[in-house]
Amino acid sequence: MGEGVLSPPFPRVGGVLHGGDVPLTEAARTFGTPLYVYDIRWIEARTNAFARAFQGVDLLLAYSVKANGNLTLLRRLEALGCGADVTSEGELFLARRAGIPAERIVFAGVGKTERELELALREGIHAIHVESAGELERLAAVARRLGVDAPFSIRVNPDVYARTPHEYTRTGTAATKFGVPYDETAALYLRARALGGLRPVGIDVHIGSQIVEPEPYVQALERLLELVAALGAEGVVLEEIDLGGGYGVAYDDEPGMDVDALAREVVPRVRGAGLRLLLEPGRWLVGEAGVLLTEVQYVKRSGPKTFVICDGGMSELIRPSHYGGFHRIEPVVARPEARVERVDVVGPICETGDFLARDRELPLPEPGDLLAVRTVGAYGFAMASNYNGRLRPAEVVVEDGRATLVRARETVDDLIRGMS
Ligand code: LLP
Repeated sequence: MGEGVLSPPFPRVGGVLHGGDVPLTEAARTFGTPLYVYDIRWIEARTNAFARAFQGVDLLLAYSVKANGNLTLLRRLEALGCGADVTSEGELFLARRAGIPAERIVFAGVGKTERELELALREGIHAIHVESAGELERLAAVARRLGVDAPFSIRVNPDVYARTPHEYTRTGTAATKFGVPYDETAALYLRARALGGLRPVGIDVHIGSQIVEPEPYVQALERLLELVAALGAEGVVLEEIDLGGGYGVAYDDEPGMDVDALAREVVPRVRGAGLRLLLEPGRWLVGEAGVLLTEVQYVKRSGPKTFVICDGGMSELIRPSHYGGFHRIEPVVARPEARVERVDVVGPICETGDFLARDRELPLPEPGDLLAVRTVGAYGFAMASNYNGRLRPAEVVVEDGRATLVRARETVDDLIRGMS
């Protein structure tokens, strides 16, 4: 199923935005603001749609925990058969705590410490994605010390350019820190055989994030399949190919990735090569399923500008200021009588870069009004911080007319924990 078949989450009913049949006004009243709200049924529907698109091939969906590591979401994804793509000791812990079986977990990242490699091997995870010759040596040494064979795939830097909205989310070109250069990959698999303590399971790539066209994936896949064939001829037999994540969603009117169209390109190629497929979607599964509710505190005129000052800003959602990310903003309660004005929607943080939107046309709100910032289920709470002594917000799941707290709002005790 492609984009647009599921009706969008958080519809407006009787002038009020709802999630999972709960008026968002009620969620804000019960749990306070700023507040993250997730429509968990939407996440389930998206996950099923993603898996269905690729059903023609032996598939593991390894959800990318970095997008949103809330345990309740992870448990639901596990129940749908998902594994996890983790990138630190903390994410490995979260995935295991949510009940995701170790054999469905892969571990990516350019800077894995010896401790992290040891933890991953002791857990018995599916594969470690090795990103450099140095990491391969380190992994072999840890594996020999533990007396195990470390399952690994090499993350290849295919030097494929993918159009992403910001250079920070492009990872597949030679100019980035990620992966092993394409031309050095085969030699590294052969080196692994010589080192011992290592068991190759597949080959891996991740070319970037918020990509909406299939073409760069197809290019990367074809480059990897050439390597798989060449390695097979050398006696290095790889059983799976991991295409990473990065499948884009609709933030505005532009369409997100059509996963059916992507699958039509990918599935026959992978099946033809007799390989198993791993995919690591994060944003595509959870992005549109989240809104951030924030309450307007002041409306301030300053020269030609109008600032709508909210109780949420870059400490809750850093995407607008860090990547110039666009997020649609709507009043939770429709104000048809309000005049539409061009405003900056900003937070309370002491930075000029603290904004949720700039030069945005919005029905001019009043202090006390609620705004909903859309498409924040991925890289929203996950990138929230305590900067300016801010307490990270609560997270709520809405489902079947009920809103359930799934992470308590931080308190000042959280702010001083471990501090002397
Ligand atoms: N696999 C690997 C190895 C990754 O590095 C990532 C994301 C994913 C999978 C999942 O990508 P997704 O399907 O969610 O696009 N903070 C940025 C995005 C950073 C993505 C980092 N890696 C943002 O807010 O746009």
